Amino acid sequence: EHTAIIVVAAGSGTRLGYGIPKALVPLAGRSLLEHALDGILQANCAAQIIAVLPAGDAPLAALAGNHPSRPTCVEGGATRSDSVRSGLAALKPGTERVLIHDAARALTPPEVFREVTLALVRGAHAVIPVLPVVDTIKQVANDGSGTSPHVTGTPARESLRAVQTPQGFHAPTLLEAHERAAGWTPAEAAAITDDAMLMEMLGERVDTVPGAAAALKITTKPDLTLASSMLQERKP
Ligand code: C5P
Repeated sequence: EHTAIIVVAAGSGTRLGYGIPKALVPLAGRSLLEHALDGILQANCAAQIIAVLPAGDAPLAALAGNHPSRPTCVEGGATRSDSVRSGLAALKPGTERVLIHDAARALTPPEVFREVTLALVRGAHAVIPVLPVVDTIKQVANDGSGTSPHVTGTPARESLRAVQTPQGFHAPTLLEAHERAAGWTPAEAAAITDDAMLMEMLGERVDTVPGAAAALKITTKPDLTLASSMLQERKP
């Protein structure tokens, strides 16, 4: 088995307003990180699990260390990309496939991990879980007059997808993409919001598999409320 999963959990979680790292925020009595690791363990598709944690965070390190998935723990960086790079540095030599997963998508069903892994096994170099978008999405720009941005276009909604994690990659290709990105200016680096974008910039084809409503990114208090009701519905 040559698949690894990196779960990035080094974000500050300021938007949740708990004053603790987001991965430590409780949902039905367990931290988001533990829920994320539960899903990864159930999916049973990786030989190595790497948890990227906030530097010096003893409580999260203890939770990860005691989790039955037995993750390798490493310290994250200032941006999500930096945290992914810390995780990549801990990959075992010879890793063929790597899944990058946000701890904030704590309730991602095991099937999504399996679908992403299966697509990689079948030969995809990059694969992301996606959902159709329900909102109409506008492109906007600022004309510099100090007013709110104005609309410059409306992409056809049928051609748009909302992107989730785990995002799966041919590991050597993702490593190459991250090596290139390491030399970018902070402004260039800030424009990269996911790993698939790096692959697109290398000219790699990125495939899609169906995502899941339960894989929502828990970012705000209402998200936490929604996640908690989803968790209740899951129980028999
Ligand atoms: O901040 P954002 O919601 O985009 O974070 C997505 C995921 O990336 C979260 O799981 C968060 O813990 C992780 N992250 C990280 N290191 C950072 C910033 C975010 O591991 N410096």
